[in-house]
Amino acid sequence: MENPMNEIRIGDITAKWARNNHIHVEYKASLESTNATAKDLAFEEDLLEQSLCLFVTDHQTAGRGRGKNTWTDAQVGSSLLSSWSYLLPMKPQPTASCLVGLAVYRACMSTWPFLNWSLKAPNDIYLGDKKVAGILLENVAQADEVRFIVGLGVNITAAPANVDTATSILQSLPEGAPLLGEDYTAFLDRLLFEMTDAASHCDQPLSPTDQLSLLTALNRFPLLKEKYTAMEADGSLYQGAKKISWAQL
Ligand code: BTN
Repeated sequence: MENPMNEIRIGDITAKWARNNHIHVEYKASLESTNATAKDLAFEEDLLEQSLCLFVTDHQTAGRGRGKNTWTDAQVGSSLLSSWSYLLPMKPQPTASCLVGLAVYRACMSTWPFLNWSLKAPNDIYLGDKKVAGILLENVAQADEVRFIVGLGVNITAAPANVDTATSILQSLPEGAPLLGEDYTAFLDRLLFEMTDAASHCDQPLSPTDQLSLLTALNRFPLLKEKYTAMEADGSLYQGAKKISWAQL
């Protein structure tokens, strides 16, 4: 019998969700990289009116990660491969990276609160000791406007088989807890809310609530060698007397 999971295309489902929510979405079955497309089309005339454009695909041929990293999807349609392109009147500050990480973490936590989520600085989401999601932030500026591009990859139904440090949400769910379509939609609803909130505050200092939430999310990472003891409004972290700026992470 065919495994119905093989027929699920996360990109396609996500594009349908976006259209239902009146979000401008650009969906292609395959792309080099959603971030590369989002950057190419950042100030395309047709998209100028759109404060948020979502770029999604079911497969990337040249998925990009932070620094020199790449991002590989396990199989077609198994991951959320997305770029959320926000039109902003200001340049995002380094705290933007903290806020987006927290936004994704919160969306995960609120949808599947019984899983062992954590945040690994600067921008990885973990389930237990395995990576399940990564974030790549990029900006494109034109005159006074900026496109703030949040690239987000989440392994939903599978993780690359040859990467033993990676997992998927489906793999991590306990027996008797299936991955429901309605849960995935609830996750996207929450992601939209949290991401939009983060984008609208991305030039501002972190609130005390954000600082404590981030500290908690970071300290939940099981492979962390030394706990963080404090966080400042500019994103600086402390391990005792040792200060680490977010940009150094
Ligand atoms: C990292 O872990 O280093 C960041 C990974 C970011 C991957 C996503 S997948 C969708 C978007 N398009 C890309 O090319 N990269 C991001």
